[in-house]
Amino acid sequence: MTTDIKEIISKLETIKKNFDNELSQTSENNLSEKLKIKYLGRKGELSSFFALMGKVSAQERPKLGQELNKLKIYFQGQIDKFTDASESKPKRIDFFDTSLPGLPVKIGTKHPLYQVLDEIKDIFISFGFTIETGPELETDYYNFEALNIPKYHPSRDLQDTFYISDDLVMRTHTSPVQIRTMESMEPPIRMIAPGKCYRKDALDATHSPIFHQVEGLCVDVGVTFADLKGLIEAFAKRLFGEDVKIRFRPSFFPFTEPSAEYDFSCVKCGGKGCNICKGTGWLEISGAGMVDPAVFNYVGYDSSKYTGYAFGMGVERIAMLKYQIPDIRHFYENDIRFLTQF
Ligand code: PHE
Repeated sequence: MTTDIKEIISKLETIKKNFDNELSQTSENNLSEKLKIKYLGRKGELSSFFALMGKVSAQERPKLGQELNKLKIYFQGQIDKFTDASESKPKRIDFFDTSLPGLPVKIGTKHPLYQVLDEIKDIFISFGFTIETGPELETDYYNFEALNIPKYHPSRDLQDTFYISDDLVMRTHTSPVQIRTMESMEPPIRMIAPGKCYRKDALDATHSPIFHQVEGLCVDVGVTFADLKGLIEAFAKRLFGEDVKIRFRPSFFPFTEPSAEYDFSCVKCGGKGCNICKGTGWLEISGAGMVDPAVFNYVGYDSSKYTGYAFGMGVERIAMLKYQIPDIRHFYENDIRFLTQF
Protein backbone atom coordinates (compact mmCIF):
# COMPACT_ATOMS: atom_id res chain seq x y z
CA MET A 1 0.00 0.00 0.00
CA THR A 2 1.18 3.48 -0.81
CA THR A 3 2.56 5.72 1.90
CA ASP A 4 1.96 8.86 -0.14
CA ILE A 5 -0.25 11.01 1.98
CA LYS A 6 -2.08 12.62 -0.95
CA GLU A 7 -2.92 9.28 -2.45
CA ILE A 8 -4.06 8.02 0.90
CA ILE A 9 -6.34 10.99 1.43
CA SER A 10 -7.89 10.62 -2.00
CA LYS A 11 -8.52 6.94 -1.28
CA LEU A 12 -10.15 7.92 1.97
CA GLU A 13 -12.40 10.32 0.08
CA THR A 14 -13.47 7.49 -2.22
CA ILE A 15 -14.24 5.33 0.80
CA LYS A 16 -16.34 8.14 2.29
CA LYS A 17 -18.31 8.48 -0.95
CA ASN A 18 -18.92 4.76 -1.07
CA PHE A 19 -20.06 4.84 2.51
CA ASP A 20 -22.49 7.70 1.90
CA ASN A 21 -23.84 5.90 -1.12
CA GLU A 22 -24.40 2.68 0.69
CA LEU A 23 -25.96 4.36 3.69
CA SER A 24 -28.41 6.27 1.51
CA GLN A 25 -29.62 2.95 0.09
CA THR A 26 -29.90 1.27 3.46
CA SER A 27 -33.44 0.93 4.72
CA GLU A 28 -33.35 -1.67 7.44
CA ASN A 29 -31.78 -1.39 10.79
CA ASN A 30 -29.69 -4.52 10.55
CA LEU A 31 -28.09 -3.21 7.32
CA SER A 32 -26.65 -0.30 9.22
CA GLU A 33 -25.03 -2.95 11.45
CA LYS A 34 -23.46 -4.46 8.32
CA LEU A 35 -22.11 -1.06 7.30
CA LYS A 36 -20.57 -0.65 10.71
CA ILE A 37 -18.70 -3.94 10.30
CA LYS A 38 -17.67 -3.10 6.74
CA TYR A 39 -16.28 0.37 7.49
CA LEU A 40 -15.41 0.37 11.17
CA GLY A 41 -14.83 -3.31 11.94
CA ARG A 42 -11.50 -4.83 12.87
CA LYS A 43 -10.99 -5.94 9.27
CA GLY A 44 -12.98 -3.06 7.86
CA GLU A 45 -12.09 -0.40 5.30
CA LEU A 46 -10.44 1.96 7.78
CA SER A 47 -8.35 -0.52 9.73
CA SER A 48 -5.68 -0.99 7.06
CA PHE A 49 -5.22 2.79 6.95
CA PHE A 50 -4.69 2.92 10.68
CA ALA A 51 -1.91 0.37 10.11
CA LEU A 52 -0.21 2.93 7.86
CA MET A 53 0.27 5.31 10.79
CA GLY A 54 3.57 3.70 11.67
CA LYS A 55 4.78 3.80 8.08
CA VAL A 56 4.26 7.41 7.05
CA SER A 57 6.79 10.07 7.94
CA ALA A 58 6.70 11.73 11.32
CA GLN A 59 5.56 14.97 9.70
CA GLU A 60 2.65 13.41 7.92
CA ARG A 61 1.56 11.24 10.79
CA PRO A 62 -0.59 13.87 12.61
CA LYS A 63 -2.33 14.78 9.36
CA LEU A 64 -3.17 11.14 8.60
CA GLY A 65 -4.26 10.59 12.19
CA GLN A 66 -6.59 13.55 12.01
CA GLU A 67 -8.10 12.46 8.71
CA LEU A 68 -8.67 8.91 9.92
CA ASN A 69 -10.23 10.01 13.20
CA LYS A 70 -12.48 12.49 11.43
CA LEU A 71 -13.70 9.78 9.11
CA LYS A 72 -14.16 7.29 11.90
CA ILE A 73 -16.23 9.75 13.92
CA TYR A 74 -18.20 10.63 10.80
CA PHE A 75 -19.01 6.97 10.02
CA GLN A 76 -19.97 6.28 13.61
CA GLY A 77 -22.15 9.39 13.75
CA GLN A 78 -23.97 8.61 10.50
CA ILE A 79 -24.62 5.02 11.50
CA ASP A 80 -25.89 6.06 14.95
CA LYS A 81 -28.21 8.64 13.43
CA PHE A 82 -29.61 6.07 11.05
CA THR A 83 -30.12 3.49 13.79
CA ASP A 84 -31.77 6.00 16.14
CA ALA A 85 -34.11 7.21 13.46
CA SER A 86 -35.28 3.76 12.44
CA GLU A 87 -35.57 2.49 16.01
CA SER A 88 -37.51 5.47 17.24
CA LYS A 89 -40.43 4.80 14.94
CA PRO A 90 -41.98 1.81 16.66
CA LYS A 91 -40.48 2.36 20.10
CA ARG A 92 -41.08 5.86 21.24
CA ILE A 93 -44.70 6.69 22.04
CA ASP A 94 -44.78 10.39 22.65
CA PHE A 95 -48.45 10.73 21.79
CA PHE A 96 -51.41 9.00 23.36
CA ASP A 97 -54.84 9.54 21.89
CA THR A 98 -57.06 9.67 24.95
CA SER A 99 -60.18 9.75 22.78
CA LEU A 100 -59.58 6.19 21.50
CA PRO A 101 -62.30 3.78 22.62
CA GLY A 102 -61.03 1.38 25.29
CA LEU A 103 -60.43 -2.33 24.70
CA PRO A 104 -63.39 -4.43 25.80
CA VAL A 105 -62.73 -6.12 29.14
CA LYS A 106 -63.62 -9.81 29.16
CA ILE A 107 -65.52 -10.63 32.33
CA GLY A 108 -66.77 -14.00 33.49
CA THR A 109 -70.39 -15.01 33.82
CA LYS A 110 -72.16 -16.40 36.83
CA HIS A 111 -72.38 -20.17 36.66
CA PRO A 112 -75.86 -21.29 35.50
CA LEU A 113 -76.32 -23.38 38.66
CA TYR A 114 -75.68 -20.36 40.83
CA GLN A 115 -77.95 -18.19 38.68
CA VAL A 116 -80.75 -20.68 39.31
CA LEU A 117 -79.80 -20.90 42.98
CA ASP A 118 -79.97 -17.10 43.25
CA GLU A 119 -83.39 -17.16 41.65
CA ILE A 120 -84.61 -19.84 44.08
CA LYS A 121 -83.22 -17.88 47.03
CA ASP A 122 -84.87 -14.64 45.86
CA ILE A 123 -88.25 -16.35 45.60
CA PHE A 124 -88.05 -17.79 49.12
CA ILE A 125 -86.72 -14.56 50.58
CA SER A 126 -89.77 -12.83 49.11
CA PHE A 127 -91.91 -15.44 50.91
CA GLY A 128 -90.27 -14.44 54.21
CA PHE A 129 -87.79 -17.32 54.49
CA THR A 130 -84.29 -16.90 55.91
CA ILE A 131 -81.16 -18.53 54.49
CA GLU A 132 -79.28 -20.94 56.74
CA THR A 133 -76.13 -22.92 56.12
CA GLY A 134 -74.37 -25.92 57.61
CA PRO A 135 -71.10 -27.80 57.09
CA GLU A 136 -70.53 -30.14 54.16
CA LEU A 137 -68.49 -32.43 56.40
CA GLU A 138 -71.19 -33.60 58.81
CA THR A 139 -71.41 -35.83 61.82
CA ASP A 140 -73.35 -39.05 61.64
CA TYR A 141 -75.70 -37.53 64.22
CA TYR A 142 -76.84 -34.56 62.09
CA ASN A 143 -76.80 -36.32 58.74
CA PHE A 144 -78.69 -39.42 59.94
CA GLU A 145 -79.41 -40.02 63.62
CA ALA A 146 -81.30 -36.82 64.49
CA LEU A 147 -83.23 -37.11 61.21
CA ASN A 148 -84.65 -40.35 62.52
CA ILE A 149 -82.54 -42.42 60.15
CA PRO A 150 -81.63 -45.37 62.34
CA LYS A 151 -78.48 -47.42 61.98
CA TYR A 152 -78.84 -50.05 59.25
CA HIS A 153 -81.37 -47.94 57.33
CA PRO A 154 -80.73 -48.56 53.62
CA SER A 155 -79.92 -44.87 52.93
CA ARG A 156 -76.90 -45.29 55.21
CA ASP A 157 -75.58 -48.01 52.96
CA LEU A 158 -71.88 -47.60 52.23
CA GLN A 159 -72.86 -47.53 48.57
CA ASP A 160 -74.38 -44.09 48.99
CA THR A 161 -72.35 -42.29 51.63
CA PHE A 162 -68.80 -41.02 51.67
CA TYR A 163 -67.64 -41.96 55.16
CA ILE A 164 -64.64 -39.96 56.34
CA SER A 165 -64.53 -41.82 59.65
CA ASP A 166 -67.01 -43.84 61.73
CA ASP A 167 -68.59 -40.63 62.86
CA LEU A 168 -67.96 -38.18 59.98
CA VAL A 169 -69.58 -38.17 56.54
CA MET A 170 -69.78 -35.84 53.58
CA ARG A 171 -73.40 -34.80 53.97
CA THR A 172 -75.69 -36.77 51.67
CA HIS A 173 -78.43 -34.11 51.75
CA THR A 174 -79.06 -30.63 53.15
CA SER A 175 -81.54 -31.99 55.72
CA PRO A 176 -78.96 -31.86 58.59
CA VAL A 177 -79.30 -28.07 58.39
CA GLN A 178 -82.92 -28.55 59.59
CA ILE A 179 -81.56 -30.02 62.81
CA ARG A 180 -78.84 -27.39 63.25
CA THR A 181 -81.34 -24.60 62.70
CA MET A 182 -83.93 -26.02 65.12
CA GLU A 183 -81.20 -26.51 67.74
CA SER A 184 -80.17 -22.88 67.43
CA MET A 185 -83.57 -21.18 67.48
CA GLU A 186 -87.15 -21.48 68.63
CA PRO A 187 -90.18 -21.50 66.30
CA PRO A 188 -91.49 -19.82 64.27
CA ILE A 189 -88.94 -21.00 61.66
CA ARG A 190 -89.13 -20.37 57.96
CA MET A 191 -85.79 -21.12 56.35
CA ILE A 192 -84.12 -22.55 53.31
CA ALA A 193 -80.64 -24.10 53.28
CA PRO A 194 -78.86 -24.24 49.93
CA GLY A 195 -75.64 -26.17 49.52
CA LYS A 196 -73.51 -28.98 48.14
CA CYS A 197 -74.25 -32.64 48.86
CA TYR A 198 -72.22 -35.77 48.23
CA ARG A 199 -73.17 -39.29 47.28
CA LYS A 200 -71.25 -42.26 45.92
CA ASP A 201 -72.90 -42.08 42.52
CA ALA A 202 -71.02 -42.69 39.29
CA LEU A 203 -71.02 -39.63 37.05
CA ASP A 204 -73.45 -40.02 34.15
CA ALA A 205 -75.96 -37.86 32.28
CA THR A 206 -78.24 -37.51 35.31
CA HIS A 207 -76.02 -38.28 38.33
CA SER A 208 -73.07 -36.56 39.91
CA PRO A 209 -71.26 -37.46 43.16
CA ILE A 210 -71.39 -33.76 44.10
CA PHE A 211 -74.63 -31.90 43.56
CA HIS A 212 -76.66 -29.04 45.03
CA GLN A 213 -79.85 -29.09 47.06
CA VAL A 214 -82.06 -26.49 48.63
CA GLU A 215 -83.67 -27.62 51.87
CA GLY A 216 -86.78 -25.92 53.19
CA LEU A 217 -88.25 -25.95 56.70
CA CYS A 218 -91.21 -24.23 58.28
CA VAL A 219 -92.14 -24.82 61.94
CA ASP A 220 -94.86 -22.95 63.79
CA VAL A 221 -98.15 -23.46 65.59
CA GLY A 222 -100.78 -24.83 63.24
CA VAL A 223 -98.66 -25.51 60.13
CA THR A 224 -100.42 -28.02 57.82
CA PHE A 225 -99.78 -30.05 54.70
CA ALA A 226 -102.00 -27.54 52.86
CA ASP A 227 -99.46 -24.84 53.70
CA LEU A 228 -96.74 -27.01 52.19
CA LYS A 229 -98.73 -27.53 48.99
CA GLY A 230 -99.58 -23.84 48.76
CA LEU A 231 -95.94 -22.88 49.19
CA ILE A 232 -94.65 -25.37 46.60
CA GLU A 233 -97.32 -24.24 44.14
CA ALA A 234 -96.48 -20.55 44.62
CA PHE A 235 -92.78 -21.37 44.22
CA ALA A 236 -93.35 -23.41 41.04
CA LYS A 237 -95.35 -20.58 39.47
CA ARG A 238 -92.72 -17.98 40.30
CA LEU A 239 -90.00 -20.18 38.81
CA PHE A 240 -91.72 -21.66 35.75
CA GLY A 241 -94.73 -19.40 35.12
CA GLU A 242 -98.43 -19.29 35.98
CA ASP A 243 -99.37 -22.35 33.92
CA VAL A 244 -97.27 -24.86 35.81
CA LYS A 245 -99.17 -27.45 37.87
CA ILE A 246 -97.96 -29.43 40.85
CA ARG A 247 -98.79 -32.86 42.22
CA PHE A 248 -97.84 -34.79 45.34
CA ARG A 249 -97.37 -38.57 45.41
CA PRO A 250 -97.19 -40.60 48.64
CA SER A 251 -93.66 -41.59 49.58
CA PHE A 252 -91.46 -42.29 52.58
CA PHE A 253 -88.71 -40.40 54.38
CA PRO A 254 -87.70 -41.27 57.96
CA PHE A 255 -87.79 -37.58 58.98
CA THR A 256 -91.23 -36.66 57.60
CA GLU A 257 -94.63 -38.16 58.24
CA PRO A 258 -96.63 -38.17 56.06
CA SER A 259 -94.08 -37.97 53.24
CA ALA A 260 -94.51 -37.21 49.57
CA GLU A 261 -92.62 -36.69 46.38
CA TYR A 262 -93.70 -33.71 44.37
CA ASP A 263 -93.70 -33.13 40.62
CA PHE A 264 -94.14 -30.13 38.34
CA SER A 265 -96.05 -30.38 35.07
CA CYS A 266 -93.56 -30.63 32.23
CA VAL A 267 -92.02 -27.24 31.44
CA LYS A 268 -91.53 -28.22 27.81
CA CYS A 269 -94.82 -29.82 26.73
CA GLY A 270 -97.06 -28.46 29.51
CA GLY A 271 -98.27 -31.95 30.40
CA LYS A 272 -98.99 -33.49 27.00
CA GLY A 273 -95.98 -35.77 27.13
CA CYS A 274 -92.60 -35.31 25.41
CA ASN A 275 -89.03 -36.54 25.50
CA ILE A 276 -88.14 -34.39 28.54
CA CYS A 277 -90.93 -35.86 30.75
CA LYS A 278 -90.62 -39.24 29.04
CA GLY A 279 -94.22 -39.05 27.94
CA THR A 280 -95.65 -38.72 31.46
CA GLY A 281 -96.33 -34.97 31.40
CA TRP A 282 -94.71 -34.66 34.88
CA LEU A 283 -91.23 -33.88 36.14
CA GLU A 284 -90.04 -35.22 39.51
CA ILE A 285 -88.57 -32.47 41.67
CA SER A 286 -87.90 -33.94 45.12
CA GLY A 287 -89.29 -35.02 48.47
CA ALA A 288 -91.32 -33.23 51.12
CA GLY A 289 -93.55 -33.89 54.09
CA MET A 290 -94.62 -32.94 57.59
CA VAL A 291 -91.75 -32.96 60.09
CA ASP A 292 -91.84 -36.26 61.98
CA PRO A 293 -92.52 -35.72 65.72
CA ALA A 294 -89.49 -37.96 66.39
CA VAL A 295 -87.30 -35.24 64.85
CA PHE A 296 -88.85 -32.60 67.13
CA ASN A 297 -87.93 -34.82 70.08
CA TYR A 298 -84.26 -34.80 69.00
CA VAL A 299 -84.13 -30.99 68.97
CA GLY A 300 -86.25 -30.55 72.08
CA TYR A 301 -89.31 -28.99 70.43
CA ASP A 302 -92.72 -29.71 71.94
CA SER A 303 -94.36 -31.84 69.26
CA SER A 304 -97.78 -31.41 70.86
CA LYS A 305 -97.50 -27.66 70.30
CA TYR A 306 -95.67 -27.30 67.00
CA THR A 307 -96.04 -28.78 63.56
CA GLY A 308 -93.93 -28.16 60.52
CA TYR A 309 -93.19 -29.09 56.96
CA ALA A 310 -89.91 -29.75 55.21
CA PHE A 311 -89.00 -30.13 51.57
CA GLY A 312 -85.95 -30.61 49.40
CA MET A 313 -85.09 -29.83 45.81
CA GLY A 314 -82.23 -30.60 43.48
CA VAL A 315 -80.73 -27.46 41.97
CA GLU A 316 -79.13 -29.30 39.03
CA ARG A 317 -82.46 -30.88 38.17
CA ILE A 318 -84.26 -27.55 38.21
CA ALA A 319 -81.54 -25.86 36.14
CA MET A 320 -81.63 -28.72 33.61
CA LEU A 321 -85.40 -28.34 33.26
CA LYS A 322 -85.29 -24.58 33.09
CA TYR A 323 -82.66 -24.44 30.36
CA GLN A 324 -83.39 -27.89 28.86
CA ILE A 325 -79.85 -29.10 29.47
CA PRO A 326 -79.73 -32.81 28.63
CA ASP A 327 -76.58 -33.78 30.55
CA ILE A 328 -75.64 -32.87 34.15
CA ARG A 329 -71.92 -33.11 33.30
CA HIS A 330 -72.09 -29.83 31.39
CA PHE A 331 -72.29 -28.04 34.75
CA TYR A 332 -68.93 -29.28 35.93
CA GLU A 333 -66.78 -29.26 32.81
CA ASN A 334 -66.22 -25.49 32.77
CA ASP A 335 -66.51 -25.28 28.99
CA ILE A 336 -66.64 -21.57 28.33
CA ARG A 337 -68.88 -22.12 25.28
CA PHE A 338 -71.49 -23.68 27.56
CA LEU A 339 -71.12 -21.29 30.49
CA THR A 340 -71.47 -18.10 28.46
CA GLN A 341 -74.86 -19.13 27.06
CA PHE A 342 -76.72 -18.20 30.24
N1 PHE B 1 -83.42 -35.05 52.05
C1 PHE B 1 -84.27 -35.70 51.08
C2 PHE B 1 -83.39 -36.20 49.91
O1 PHE B 1 -82.24 -35.83 49.83
C3 PHE B 1 -85.31 -34.78 50.50
C4 PHE B 1 -86.30 -34.33 51.52
C5 PHE B 1 -86.10 -33.13 52.20
C6 PHE B 1 -87.43 -35.06 51.79
C7 PHE B 1 -87.03 -32.69 53.13
C8 PHE B 1 -88.36 -34.64 52.74
C9 PHE B 1 -88.14 -33.46 53.38
O2 PHE B 1 -83.83 -36.95 49.08
